[in-house]
Amino acid sequence: MATVVRLRLATTWLLVPVAAAILLSICVSTTRRAPQLPPVVVVPGYATNELDARLTELYCPSSPRCGARKGEGWFRLFLNYTALKDAADVRCFAEQMAAVYDAASDDYRNAPGVETRVPFFGSTRGFRYPDPDRRNFSYMDKFVSRLEELGYRDGETLFGAPYDFRYAVAPPGHPSRVGDAIFGRLKRLVERASRINGGRPVTVAHSYGGTLAHQFLLRRSLPWRRRFVPVAAPWGGVVLGMLTLVAGNNLGLPFVDPLALWGEYRSLQSSLGPLPNTNAFGAGKPLVTTRSRTYTAHDVADFLDDIGMGAAIGPYQSRVLPLLRELPSPRVPVACAVAVGVDTPEMLAYPGGDFHVTPRMVMGDGDGLVNLASLLAVDPAWRRPAAYFRILEVRNVSHTGLFVDDAALAVINLCSFS
Ligand SMILES: *[C@@H]1O[C@H](CO)[C@@H](O)[C@H](O)[C@H]1NC(C)=O
Ligand SMILES: *[C@@H]1O[C@H](CO)[C@@H](O)[C@H](O)[C@H]1NC(C)=O
Ligand SMILES: *[C@@H]1O[C@H](CO)[C@@H](O)[C@H](O)[C@H]1NC(C)=O
Repeated sequence: MATVVRLRLATTWLLVPVAAAILLSICVSTTRRAPQLPPVVVVPGYATNELDARLTELYCPSSPRCGARKGEGWFRLFLNYTALKDAADVRCFAEQMAAVYDAASDDYRNAPGVETRVPFFGSTRGFRYPDPDRRNFSYMDKFVSRLEELGYRDGETLFGAPYDFRYAVAPPGHPSRVGDAIFGRLKRLVERASRINGGRPVTVAHSYGGTLAHQFLLRRSLPWRRRFVPVAAPWGGVVLGMLTLVAGNNLGLPFVDPLALWGEYRSLQSSLGPLPNTNAFGAGKPLVTTRSRTYTAHDVADFLDDIGMGAAIGPYQSRVLPLLRELPSPRVPVACAVAVGVDTPEMLAYPGGDFHVTPRMVMGDGDGLVNLASLLAVDPAWRRPAAYFRILEVRNVSHTGLFVDDAALAVINLCSFS
């Protein structure tokens, strides 16, 4: 498939139609000549890596079926296709995946009696196939294979930083037990990757992983930070993030009813981060309309209240918004890859006075999930202090297609190594 790649350089726009093969061969020959590959640490996107759980005596299942694994040790909670085929089991999955905001400690935690862990930290194994028994649910496999073809080896030069995507980090002054643990592990991993490879670590981060890695870099000292390759990061949130709070999110699993995960999705801090913010959408653009009300990115708190999530307004305003108000440059070489040219919901028009029907969607540009304005929200702000900044746009490729499409993969490699 021929793809037009638009290179966004410091001052000019270049329209470069490229054949994937050419780009790839540049990457291959460059890296072959290089005596040593720069170590790559991959931070995957939302709901891309495995999560394990175990159910303790404190767990109160809603049905005997949900409690079947109580006391039986660790099992794979995400992703297990077999365990999601039956709607009754999806209910168990939802209650075990849910989190709780505890106002007294100002932090999110798991449902009582559900312990979780992220397996294979340090390796790409935890997200190459999120369900190793159903390898077709994977979009990272091809990317990892490409890196291996270039000579990368898992645990030697290639590292994976899977994380508990239900959680997020909190701004200074607010605790985030899980978020702090994610950053602690990531710091040690990047340092190890760097130490055993003579420095030069590159952090490649997709989607939600990109916004997380950005927050991570901002908390490190300037000399510590290294090259950053965010891929399709939703800097300014996504309009679809409002729809998923109303209608549920099936985590991209077509056989799961989104409504079955409605309550679970609403319970997570990471569901509030992707709500549209004014960095990308301004305060005047209508994003959701009903017969009686128009919501812009400035009205997200009102929106939460009106969809019955009033309890989330506090944590949204204290724990989420402060991280989104500004998008400071990480002040390191940055090469972003984004996909554009795919119909992406830009406004949701509810015909009545409430949210009980499917809205009419007004489409705009983006990658099918993330709106163009959000993908580009760090531009031009990140150009100024950065020694090196560019955004490479791949046309007609979707948000996850970036890791599957040959031409797009070549662009990501170009971002990582050139
Ligand atoms: C993108 O897709 C549209 C519609 O399918 C097509 O008309 C257009 O030629 C494609 N552009 C590229 C650059 O592939
Ligand atoms: C996946 O779910 C099925 C059905 O509940 C179960 O038999 C199997 O052991 C689970 N696999 C893992 C790895 O937990
Ligand atoms: C994976 O395979 C299963 C069973 O063969 C199928 O139902 C499902 O739709 C496939 N998923 C994808 C993403 O292709």
